[in-house]
Amino acid sequence: MILTITPNPCVDKTLFIDALRPGEKIRAPRYGCIAGGKGCNVSRAIKAMGGDTVAMPFVGGHTGRHVVDMLEQQDGLRCATVWVKDMTRTITTVLEEPIHRQTALFEPGSRVTSEECRKALELVEQLLPEADLITMNGSAPDATLDNFYHDVVMLAHKAGVKTIVDAYGAIFERALEALPYMVKPNAEEAQQLLQRAITNRAEQWAAVDWFHDKGIPLVVLSLGADGALVSFRDCPSIRDCPWEDAQFHAHPPAIEEVNPVGSGDALVAGFALGITQDMDIESTARRAVAMGTANAMSWDIGTFTKTEVDVLLPKIQILAK
Ligand SMILES: Nc1ncnc2c1ncn2[C@@H]1O[C@H](COP(=O)(O)OP(=O)(O)OP(=O)(O)O)[C@@H](O)[C@H]1O
Ligand SMILES: [Mg+2]
Repeated sequence: MILTITPNPCVDKTLFIDALRPGEKIRAPRYGCIAGGKGCNVSRAIKAMGGDTVAMPFVGGHTGRHVVDMLEQQDGLRCATVWVKDMTRTITTVLEEPIHRQTALFEPGSRVTSEECRKALELVEQLLPEADLITMNGSAPDATLDNFYHDVVMLAHKAGVKTIVDAYGAIFERALEALPYMVKPNAEEAQQLLQRAITNRAEQWAAVDWFHDKGIPLVVLSLGADGALVSFRDCPSIRDCPWEDAQFHAHPPAIEEVNPVGSGDALVAGFALGITQDMDIESTARRAVAMGTANAMSWDIGTFTKTEVDVLLPKIQILAK
């Protein structure tokens, strides 16, 4: 089972309209609502590929209940819920269909107390015997969680469970010190962390090596339509090294991009699946990139099919560094 952790989920509403006119009342003929949040997206993508996953969102209030209901009933996912006192946020996206422009309005995330954080760690400990891998996804809604991913990675190390961290900011920086098995920054996130420009290929590979030099074995730098740089280096933090050292660029075909939001999460889901299925690194990367690309081809997040991914697989190029 792959456990996905989402400290900052949301009720994710989309209103489909003709045109956004500020100051006016605008009625949407159509609207959609899903459980938002990066780990929720990862779990949906794992399920789309037939994998076994448990989603662990931090939620509160009636909107939090709504998130859990949608995950369980709409998405058919198992949840291990961390209940917090503060109410879960709603994000409202307005999509102007004729021009395909989205405007998103974010409510602030929930506060999380140290006690709630401690309970979340206890829940992770309870689930560890069942988990083959843990993914930690997205930012922290509250500074009380800044050590949370670090502490989860440490617990997982003790249990011999691999971890993937896909985040940014203080929670990500602290997590790196615990040496997760894999990280998946996009270029912008890496740029922010390294405090230097990452625009050309040499700078992108240098950023990948920066993470390896910290002691992270698997680094995936995602580049949107340009695919991802994938790099594995045997590091002292791994007990049983599954792969030879490798560095390559996995490049997807050109597609008509509909909605790339959550493509990074689909990429993470693909790596989580490949790692837990003992797949080789090239096949893992090929399928993970195809999943990211399949996600970008439709509006809904993490709801592509295995058939769509299979069609893309032979079109993913693996280019040597
Ligand atoms: N326009 C696109 N065309 C083809 N593939 C895409 C496109 N956008 C995304 N992808 C695929 O999805 C993967 C991840 O995308 P991206 O780098 O945008 O992730 P991200 O910035 O972390 O996204 P998010 O955080 O919203 O999930 C890419 O490596 C690529 O395989
Ligand atoms: Mg991302």
